Amino acid sequence: MDVGSPLNPLPQGGRGQGEGENKARYVRAMFTGIARRYDLMNALMTGGRHQAWRRAAARLAEPQAGGLALDLATGTGDLALALLAETAVRRVIGLDFSDGMLQVGREKLLRKDPAGRVSLVAGDALLLPFADKTFACVASAFLLRNLAHLEPGLAEMRRVTQAGGRVVALEITQPTLWGFRHLFGWYFHRLVPGLGAVVSGNREAYTYLPRSVERFLPPAELARLMERVGLRDVTCRRLGLGTVTLHAGTA
Ligand SMILES: C[S@@+](CC[C@H](N)C(=O)[O-])C[C@H]1O[C@@H](n2cnc3c(N)ncnc32)[C@H](O)[C@@H]1O
Repeated sequence: MDVGSPLNPLPQGGRGQGEGENKARYVRAMFTGIARRYDLMNALMTGGRHQAWRRAAARLAEPQAGGLALDLATGTGDLALALLAETAVRRVIGLDFSDGMLQVGREKLLRKDPAGRVSLVAGDALLLPFADKTFACVASAFLLRNLAHLEPGLAEMRRVTQAGGRVVALEITQPTLWGFRHLFGWYFHRLVPGLGAVVSGNREAYTYLPRSVERFLPPAELARLMERVGLRDVTCRRLGLGTVTLHAGTA
């Protein structure tokens, strides 16, 4: 199976090790390829709303004052910065497996985090290089549908979160509002790949994007999976007319 085809993105979980590795390789190379234009594309695609959604995710993570937070799959570091701005966290570790995204993040942090409270590290979300219960909260934005194995990824998030700490995941979802769902589908599947081709020079990455959302679990099913890995008080809240959903649970 060619997981490199945007027409056939691999769904998460339940597939063999080899296919998982292929998907991880594809996703890592894709994000490194679009890293320089990633932030601009986010701003254009969402009409600038993406940062408000990350701020909402950070507030929901509500780390204990003075605690250490993890921004899992930090990319260019925006959720890590939102955690600093919106909460009383002391420090944030941002982890990602794309060197290209981390490099853009490092340059951004030189400007936006002069006190050096965010540390960026290279690593795999499926094999976190942290001891159990290291973090006051674990937050992620737009990671889950990119994971080769979803349930093990959620279990890792829970494992490194302190008891009582929050695990938060912001993810793109398909709106349910009749009419708007069709309009959004047309925008996402027809316009966004063209915009990606023009702005980032990578139509394939922005074809993979809507297809990966289409193949991902609906919020209620993701909530059940979060409970299955042991998270409590799981909630989902739709934002942006249902185009994104904030998932949260307590470790
Ligand atoms: C859509 S971007 C989101 C970046 C950032 N969180 C944001 O809010 O813009 C997805 C990120 O997940 C990272 N990623 C995907 N799978 C990963 C994994 N298994 N381990 C670490 N990072 C991963 C990619 O490299 C990419 O930077």
